[in-house]
Amino acid sequence: MAKVEVNLSAIPEGKNVIIKWRGKPVFIRHRTPDEIEEANAVKVESLRDPQTDAERVKQPEWLVMVGVCTHLGCVPVGEAGDYGGWFCPCHGSHYDISGRVRRGPAPLNLEIPEYDFPEEGKLIIG
Ligand code: FES
Repeated sequence: MAKVEVNLSAIPEGKNVIIKWRGKPVFIRHRTPDEIEEANAVKVESLRDPQTDAERVKQPEWLVMVGVCTHLGCVPVGEAGDYGGWFCPCHGSHYDISGRVRRGPAPLNLEIPEYDFPEEGKLIIG
């Protein structure tokens, strides 16, 4: 199945959900206002893979990413690591609340899949 539909009303603010899409995990986080502020406060030029938070989201409260570490493909753990986001236990990569790599061997930020919000409360991945 190429596309997956997700009911966003089932994901409370401050929670992560993992769904499967094309055999890969996709992380969906309903970010809090504080998390959005934190994601925007980061100095982009200090990042290994420089991207603003706005380049990584379509709606600031919804962060949607492929849950595959860009180092060697492990699945990072949510609500972990030193930057308020994800931590990959395989070799210690830390990702922030925008899924950007902040420390460890991962070369790139977590990938953003194709997705859309066709109507309020609905997400289509793919
Ligand atoms: Fe994630 Fe190596 S696979 S740090």
